[in-house]
Parts: sequence; structure tokens; C-alpha cells
Amino acid sequence: MKLDARLAFDRFFAERAVTEIYSLFPCPWPKKAHIKNRLFTGGFFQQLNHCLRDDGGLRVVTDDRPYFNWIVEQLPGTGFALKTEEIRTSFDTKFEKKWRQAGQDKFFEMRLRKVEHQSVRPKEERLLKNYSAKYFFPEKFRFIDTVGEVSVLLKEFLFDPIHKKGLARFLVVEPDLTQQFWVAITETRGAWQVSRAEGQNIIATPGVEQALEKVFAAVMATETGSAAG
Ligand SMILES: C[S@@+](CC[C@H](N)C(=O)[O-])C[C@H]1O[C@@H](n2cnc3c(N)ncnc32)[C@H](O)[C@@H]1O
Repeated sequence: MKLDARLAFDRFFAERAVTEIYSLFPCPWPKKAHIKNRLFTGGFFQQLNHCLRDDGGLRVVTDDRPYFNWIVEQLPGTGFALKTEEIRTSFDTKFEKKWRQAGQDKFFEMRLRKVEHQSVRPKEERLLKNYSAKYFFPEKFRFIDTVGEVSVLLKEFLFDPIHKKGLARFLVVEPDLTQQFWVAITETRGAWQVSRAEGQNIIATPGVEQALEKVFAAVMATETGSAAG
């Protein structure tokens, strides 16, 4: 599955369905400002625990000692017993080869055995609204990003005047989940509809809901020319 692992385990693996999980050389996100992107948070471990059989386990191998230490700190309360080892790996993946060629031959392994089941509720799904506006002047479309616990960032906006269709691409960063998706602004029977664009696999979270609401406000603001925040 070419999917964010958080989305995949939330959506596509049932409780106690998985025997073993491997993660080889997960991105360490070494810069302080990027720590929020790290995958192996306590919440993600609980999600993995939920999907593992009671006799299941997880192996994480990293080349990055600081990330290894950080991951170990996230473990309490996630239902795993930990064994660690310094290994010379033989997985032969692209990144293992890369580190070897750069002269690194020691890697850090965590072997996690499930000892206590964690029941995790699926991520909350919102029923996304479709919005309708009487007017839309695409050349006046302005959007002010939200930055905070939930960040809603507009990455690009395209407008096709022939088909009277606008597409806004968003990056929505929420605790434990980052998603990218398009919001469509289309003219149908004399009104402009703002909705999630077709053909995307996303979780309808509060951040996605916020993106739609804010696009609608920005569409409405094109009539008066003020930027919607
Ligand atoms: C350093 S590479 C290692 C790739 C491969 N396992 C190897 O050993 O060659 C890290 C990989 O993790 C993927 N990745 C990062 N965050 C992810 C996430 N949240 N869900 C799924 N994959 C992710 C990246 O796209 C990248 O391919």
C-alpha cells in the first residue's frame, strides 16, 4: 500500500489481525523543528499494538542513535516489552546499502513483543459538508493558513476557466496524522460548490473539515474582496 502507515493501520488492518510488523530505517527527522513528523509516537505504537495478534511483535531497525533513544522513550504505556540490540543487518534494502556504502555497519534494533492489548478507537470520521456559494471570483481567491495544533496549509490553487473548476491542494497536519488532499470548487447549475475532490483516500478529520469550511469562507470573501482567515 502506498499510504501513510498511520492511515493504513487505522483503516485497513483489523484489531488483532497482524502477526509481525517490520520497519526498516524509518525517517529519523533529526532537526528539532521536524520532530513532530516522527512516526513512532506513543499513539502510533498503540495503534500497531491494536492491530497485532496477542502473540505478535514488531521490529524497528534504525541507523540513527538519537531517534532510537527517542523511540524508546515513547514506549511506556503502549503494551510492549522491549529488547534492544546492536546489529549488523542483512536486510539489503536501499537505505541499508546506502549506509553501508557510507561506512556505517552497526544499526540499532528494537524488538517489541506485545504483552498487553491496547484497544484503539478508529480515528474520528466527520461527515463532510458540501458548501454552496452564489458567487466566486477565482482571481480574488486568498487563503490564510492556520498554524497550530491543527495546521491547514494551502499548497497551491489552480483554476480552469473553461470548465469553471478550481482546485486547492492542502496539507493538513494534525496530531499523529498528516494528509494531503484537494478541495474542488465547481460551478453546478448556477452555484459554486465547495467539496472534497473525487478520487482521494483520506480520513475525514476535523482538520479536513476545517479546510473545507475555510475554502468556503474564502470563496464567499471573493465577492467582497477581503481575505478569509
Ligand atoms: C529512509 S527510507 C527507508 C526505506 C526502506 N525501508 C529502506 O530500508 O530502504 C524511509 C521511508 O519511510 C517512508 N515513510 C516516511 N514516513 C512514512 C509514513 N508516515 N508512512 C509510510 N511511510 C513513511 C518514506 O517515504 C521512505 O520511503
